[in-house]
Amino acid sequence: MVNGEAEPFVVGSKSFTAVAINTAAKAGQWIKTKLGDINRVDTKFSSQDLVTEVDKGSEKLIRNLILTHFPDHSILGEEGVAPGPEASAKALQAMSDEEYLWIVDPIDGTTNFVHGFPFYSVSIALAHRGEVIVGVVYDPTRDELFVAEKGKGAYRHGKKTEVSLEDQLSVSLVATGFPADRQGALVTNLKGVQALSPKVRNLRVAGSAALHLAYVAAGRLSGFWEIGLNSWDIAAGALLIQESGGQVTDTEGKPYNLAVRNVMATNGKIHAELGQELAAAEATGF
Ligand code: IPD
Ligand code: CA
Ligand code: CA
Repeated sequence: MVNGEAEPFVVGSKSFTAVAINTAAKAGQWIKTKLGDINRVDTKFSSQDLVTEVDKGSEKLIRNLILTHFPDHSILGEEGVAPGPEASAKALQAMSDEEYLWIVDPIDGTTNFVHGFPFYSVSIALAHRGEVIVGVVYDPTRDELFVAEKGKGAYRHGKKTEVSLEDQLSVSLVATGFPADRQGALVTNLKGVQALSPKVRNLRVAGSAALHLAYVAAGRLSGFWEIGLNSWDIAAGALLIQESGGQVTDTEGKPYNLAVRNVMATNGKIHAELGQELAAAEATGF
């Protein structure tokens, strides 16, 4: 009681990280029940940029859960933003000064999800005045949850994750993506693929940027780069990598921030070499 009045009811006193974990896990488990049961696939910015009612449902579930615990926080979710790179950058800019901003990709890897290819994830990050302080990437197929807290390390099911030890591209497994923006980002990224594929041990393009980043954090990949991503693809995975001892910059080597769209993320040891190869191939941007 304060001055004879009942205090307003606040749901729970859960930590940011606990809410991020529970929310990503709940959304991921719900998504998995919908695999193979999609009624409608729509396209967004390009004919390869897909969205389903499950993406929208997942984002709604995530928003509701976050706002139940933190009604004053802001949320930037992919499905709440108009399609295309310009609208995404604008939406981020409009919100980047918020005290607490949750950055949500409700399904990262929608194309895989639509085709039943089991490599997709839920990505949830929390930024405090523009700096990512919590990141969670959840893979419902393998029930694998990757979580990082700024300054406190990154973990996979309670075990600290650490980046790989390879210090040369020639012995590294590296991943990238084929962006849905066929005219811009894809053309540039293909130059990188062409240049890098003979130099690395092998390339993987499995279709979920967030999960690829989590794999760099866990030492399963030594590097990842992609042109034309959005904040919700990168934010959680970037913290996972930084807290696992790796390095995240843009493709020109400038430090990561939420506005970075052309990302280069590695174990740190192959960072310079990867950057040099991308620069030599004129594959750092468009
Ligand atoms: C896509 C995935 C894919 C990447 C694309 C992203 P979405 O996200 O991360 O791996 O290559 O550039 O747009 O549309 O499935 O959330
Ligand atoms: Ca995505
Ligand atoms: Ca998505």
